[in-house]
Amino acid sequence: MKILGIETSCDETALCLMEAEGDTESPKFVVLENALISQIDIHKEYGGVFPAVAKREHAKNIVPLFAKILENSEKVSWQNPEINWDKVSEILNREFELYENLKKFVENNFVAKNIRPSFEMIAVTSGPGLEPALWVGINFARAISEIFQIPLLPVNHMEGHIVSVLLEKDQLKVTAEFPSLALLISGGHTEIIEIESWGNYKKIGETLDDAIGEAYDKVARMIGLEYPGGPKISLLAQSAREENLSDERIIFPRPMIHSPDLNFSLSGLKTSVLYKIKELGEITAIQKKIIAKEFEQSVVDVINKKVSKAINETNAKSLIVGGGVIANKYIRENLSQIATEKNIKVHFPTTELSTDNAIMISIAGYLKSFRQSPEICPDIKAEGNLSLN
Ligand code: KG4
Ligand code: ZN
Repeated sequence: MKILGIETSCDETALCLMEAEGDTESPKFVVLENALISQIDIHKEYGGVFPAVAKREHAKNIVPLFAKILENSEKVSWQNPEINWDKVSEILNREFELYENLKKFVENNFVAKNIRPSFEMIAVTSGPGLEPALWVGINFARAISEIFQIPLLPVNHMEGHIVSVLLEKDQLKVTAEFPSLALLISGGHTEIIEIESWGNYKKIGETLDDAIGEAYDKVARMIGLEYPGGPKISLLAQSAREENLSDERIIFPRPMIHSPDLNFSLSGLKTSVLYKIKELGEITAIQKKIIAKEFEQSVVDVINKKVSKAINETNAKSLIVGGGVIANKYIRENLSQIATEKNIKVHFPTTELSTDNAIMISIAGYLKSFRQSPEICPDIKAEGNLSLN
């Protein structure tokens, strides 16, 4: 089955065409087309993702991306289609330019040629994420569903992150050992999820305030680094470890490390970094490195503790780690170490799939289609706080 995947939950507009086959035990996926436009450079000016700007950029980029992924893809015959453009314009009434661009594109490239694209299902992220951004993807997906009369399923972005970890090259080998544990760490999320089987999720831990990536970005900003500062902090920390730098005045708390639950809290740690910087006054390049190292160590200690505890409590046979923060080598090494100690498997995503993308949404959509039938133009709402259970 060919699937169109659509992702617009945050600052990436992403579309993908994927061929999927097999059952949920051993599905196979081949990525046919994949395209993405990142808004990172635009949001840099604001020091973070600005929802209204994200929405505007998604609306501007989504039709050109759609054209790009369809350019060389398979088409099938489509004789005299009756498209209800009134309904489509109603669906896209808040994105009028998008509507006009889409209509022109469909009329010129498909209606005029009596052909249509050959995908048979659409999967779109319905949450969690920034609602104004999510709406663009949802409305676009519903419009495409209505125009081509192709069924559509809403997908949970976090389920996407979980499945993204199991794709290798162009093929997915879903051999996750259930029960499995997923640690999802990004700029917007910090969650521990117990997975009994595909679709059977239970959130057993989460941040009570900032996400881990968000804390990295905020600390980066405090020491004068540009958004997104996470990767820059991890480089500074790495070099402080290599150079064995330390300063007894620079030490930070490990919030909630001894709490009986699996939750995280990052805002106290962030504040304590801020106070330390104020206390030190003018900070040197070396002190910046030490701050980065000590901050990272606090984060890693808490992650290690919570993940070990979660593995013990759930008897998980594997650990799936997803989200943009897992680009961090030190966090990755620590989690690998824990998996080795507990004698369980650990799965990390490739670099391309660790950040937001539409490949993961297509895969999650395919797996979900075994539990819920997709429908033509279903009523889907953006759910900013959509949870996995
Ligand atoms: O998943 P993602 O691309 O976007 C969402 O937040 O959904 O994650 C981006 C986040 C940013 O906060 C970024 O600073 C952080 O991941 N990040 C890192 C590293 N690389 C990216 N944080 C720590 N260390 C890294 N190496
Ligand atoms: Zn994400």
